Amino acid sequence: MKVLVVGNGGREHAIIQSLKKSKKIDEIIAIAGNGGIANDATIVNMDVKDVEKVAEYAAANGIDFAVVAPDDPLVLGAVNALNAKGIACFGPTKEAAIIEGSKIFSKNLMKKYGIPTANYETFSDMQSAFDYLEKQDMPIVIKADGLALGKGVIIAETLEEAKNAVKSMMEDKVFGASGANVVIEEFLTGPEVSVLSFTDGKTMVPMVSSMDHKRALDGDKGLNTGGMGTIAPNPYYTENVAKECMEKIFLPTMEAMNKEGRTFKGCLYFGLMLTPKGPKVIEYNCRFGDPETQVVLPLLKTDLLEIMMAVANEELDKIKVEFMNKSACCVVMASKGYPEKYDKGFEIIFNTSRKNVFVAGAKLENGKLLTNGGRVLGVTAVAGNLQKAIKKAYKKSEKIKFANAYKRTDIGARALKAYGEIR
Ligand code: AMP
Ligand code: GLY
Repeated sequence: MKVLVVGNGGREHAIIQSLKKSKKIDEIIAIAGNGGIANDATIVNMDVKDVEKVAEYAAANGIDFAVVAPDDPLVLGAVNALNAKGIACFGPTKEAAIIEGSKIFSKNLMKKYGIPTANYETFSDMQSAFDYLEKQDMPIVIKADGLALGKGVIIAETLEEAKNAVKSMMEDKVFGASGANVVIEEFLTGPEVSVLSFTDGKTMVPMVSSMDHKRALDGDKGLNTGGMGTIAPNPYYTENVAKECMEKIFLPTMEAMNKEGRTFKGCLYFGLMLTPKGPKVIEYNCRFGDPETQVVLPLLKTDLLEIMMAVANEELDKIKVEFMNKSACCVVMASKGYPEKYDKGFEIIFNTSRKNVFVAGAKLENGKLLTNGGRVLGVTAVAGNLQKAIKKAYKKSEKIKFANAYKRTDIGARALKAYGEIR
């Protein structure tokens, strides 16, 4: 089979390395991929947001199955466009991708169907938002309605900060049209858990849980980033919590989308907070998380292509999805200065196997792999327990060199501590 993977980051590289294990696949094509993905797939340069062009390419080039990984093309209808050309896909239609594409949609969905989430109000007018903020306790959370590269969430400690956040979104339009409407919601506390889940609208199969590390610096300090590292499984996600999430969140979300006529097929990502009042949804994503995928898929035992095709055919109930009883750690190697200003164009030297080294931001030039983004690599290791996985991932990361490399030194430390506290 000829399989197309749409996307160009570390997540897509992890999906491709996992798909490569399938005996059914003859060739993987990546649109647009990156210089590192070129090691594992045929690269076709194209704007992933030009969904009609992507679909035309797929139809003209004998693609048998497509995996659309990033939020933008999903929300723009890449799956609709591919399906219209008769190409089976893994990923939600744009009607279902709205669960990530509009925070107002997802908050209203949760309210309507009684799915636990932070209390909130939505605003399309700045003065009403200001009036509401005057009456609220701080801290408070301000969210842009639309996609904002994972940056559309501001936690305000003071009323002034809260008003500035609303103003930056609604008046200064820092997130463009995505900030025309905002959600203002209650500040929740508790450990965070990411759960990626396969679903075909009939069956819900959660994958192994994971923990992201969003802040740039050690000790969860510094700016929010796309993610500086991940571990799996997440120690806070005990069997009891998993059961509660399935009953109160996962299945009700699947049913709610069905009832809305927006059946979700693909990977539904639940960003959860385990609050003192039980698990609550912080966010839904309509896709695999990045860099969660980089620890979840290396633990998958079942053929990924088979699962993805079963989802597309609404036969997920026929597949037994299995994960290794091991732990994984992914350490992100970034460019110094990320997520703000950083230099790029430095050669990356691998003195190690590139298996489970997922390239996020690099380009090939004259046969050399050069850094080309804020997050450059995700270095994943799998081991019998978390402590060993962390050690192995860091050891491996030391064998990969490029100028101005930066990584956190404490990925997994909080999880290790939690193991001591919970179990
Ligand atoms: P998001 O971009 O939606 O993933 O949000 C970024 C981060 O903001 C989350 O991972 C949480 O740590 C935090 N966050 C979002 N919503 C809330 C909330 N209601 N209460 C506390 N923290 C939140
Ligand atoms: N790691 C969070 C996300 O993919 O949005």
